[in-house]
Amino acid sequence: MALLTIILGILVIALVAACLYLTQHRGVVESFGIPYIKPFLIFGSPPFAFHKINYQDWMIGQCKKLGRTWGRYDGINPTIVSIDPEFIKQVTVKQFDSFTDTFDFHTPDDSTTLDISQGDTWRALRKMLSPTFTTGKMKSMLEPMEAIAERTVDYIEEKVKNNSTIDVKPILQGFTLDTIAKCAFGLETKAYKGEDDQFAKTAYDVFNQFRADTWTNVLFFNIVSHFPVISRFFNLWPESAMKIREMTTQIMNERDKNNVEVGDFIDRLREHKANVEPPVTPPMIDAQGIVFLTAGFETTATTLGHMCYLLAKNPDAQEALYEEIMRVCDSSAKIDHETIKDMHLLEGAFNETLRIRPPVTEHDRLCTKDCVVEGIKIPKGTRIQLPNLPAHIDEEFFPDPFAFKPERFLKENAHQITPFTWRPFGSGNRVCIAQRFATTEVLIFMAKLLSRFRILDSPSTKLNYFRGDLFLLSHSEMNIKFELRA
Ligand SMILES: *[C@@H]1O[C@H](CO)[C@@H](O)[C@H](O)[C@H]1NC(C)=O
Ligand SMILES: *[C@@H]1O[C@H](CO)[C@@H](O)[C@H](O)[C@H]1NC(C)=O
Ligand SMILES: *[C@@H]1O[C@H](CO)[C@@H](O)[C@H](O)[C@H]1NC(C)=O
Repeated sequence: MALLTIILGILVIALVAACLYLTQHRGVVESFGIPYIKPFLIFGSPPFAFHKINYQDWMIGQCKKLGRTWGRYDGINPTIVSIDPEFIKQVTVKQFDSFTDTFDFHTPDDSTTLDISQGDTWRALRKMLSPTFTTGKMKSMLEPMEAIAERTVDYIEEKVKNNSTIDVKPILQGFTLDTIAKCAFGLETKAYKGEDDQFAKTAYDVFNQFRADTWTNVLFFNIVSHFPVISRFFNLWPESAMKIREMTTQIMNERDKNNVEVGDFIDRLREHKANVEPPVTPPMIDAQGIVFLTAGFETTATTLGHMCYLLAKNPDAQEALYEEIMRVCDSSAKIDHETIKDMHLLEGAFNETLRIRPPVTEHDRLCTKDCVVEGIKIPKGTRIQLPNLPAHIDEEFFPDPFAFKPERFLKENAHQITPFTWRPFGSGNRVCIAQRFATTEVLIFMAKLLSRFRILDSPSTKLNYFRGDLFLLSHSEMNIKFELRA
């Protein structure tokens, strides 16, 4: 009897403690004075079953219903969601000192990648890595990039001889993987034709970990958002990411031993490792390989797939791009990083693709210091979620939002675009560090592809997104019909 009483007592206390823990921030979202999604009992605001809904559609629906700035409890975390350009400008630029972090992850040094690093560590890492992407340093990466694009388009031509309709997704993934492997790690891979499976598989694995597509994954996501303290006992990056870090270390050591200088990203890291200064540590430097591979691979491949898709559906726009490519390269000019600079419509088409189908669908900030933004008193610890898709298809920001119009972005029209409404690379001080690299990669590949083929719509040209993707718009296959140009 006494034992039963003790057990019951402990259970009651645990339950009360859990309730108190789960409701500790109640009242914060209510105090913002903005529309918000009410929390459910002692839990956060719905939805919870991410695998049953399309998260992006849900986000678009909420922005339509609640307005440009609204609140919710993401698990226990008070959260503000906004697509209001003025709010975003304040958070990502003007009051950046109160929003230096993206998430509240506490990572060991060997997993502290640029994207999730915090405060002064982020400042030091960003300062260290930025020069890698200046025009001068990028130069040595461009020639290999052109060669890899060329051979990939050759491969497509070979495939098309068998069957004019092919699933380009694995080829595009292969292309971006080969490019990163070469430009960042100095590795010669042939993922474009399905070789180097192990390397490719490791890279794919990192992504699959972040998908809430089964109820067990969803349960895990929900538990972490309700008990964020648990995340301290887990490594955020999965095992596959750790393999990439080990690979980075290995390549660096080998080059040190043999005194090899290639001029790629790994060499930049080696330079820094030779004279690290706190708060950056040597294990942190090794960890940066993870973010270069993961950030530069699936996002770019998906964007290439989206661009093929949108051009198949918009033949007139495609023809205009073809004419531009031919005009710029009329006599003997090659398609390379120099000539693509004059292909403004092509860049407009890239920007427009990223508007309609941004591969990364939101960027996040964490309030690190109490502040007031647009009249809202925001306490430290508040999560800020900045989805881009709802802004990209807001009629007031982009009239006729579902029409594919590359010319929106041309110099003569660009003044009509409100700053901080187009954010495929994020915005402000933590904007994507490799924006220029990714843009060049896509433009070179697409110019080469379009100069050789007409991309045609076919009954199997469809977009199928993975369920449960919380911040990626990533499609499975991409069947495209190709017609060789004369
Ligand atoms: C084309 O088809 C043939 C016969 O099915 C096959 O042997 C060959 O590997 C295919 N070529 C490509 C590039 O897929
Ligand atoms: C060509 O490939 C497409 C897409 O993979 C497939 O649906 C179609 O059946 C193939 N056609 C032939 C003739 O093999
Ligand atoms: C595309 O977007 C980039 C980044 O904002 C901008 O610098 C560029 O001018 C745009 N170019 C065109 C032609 O659309």
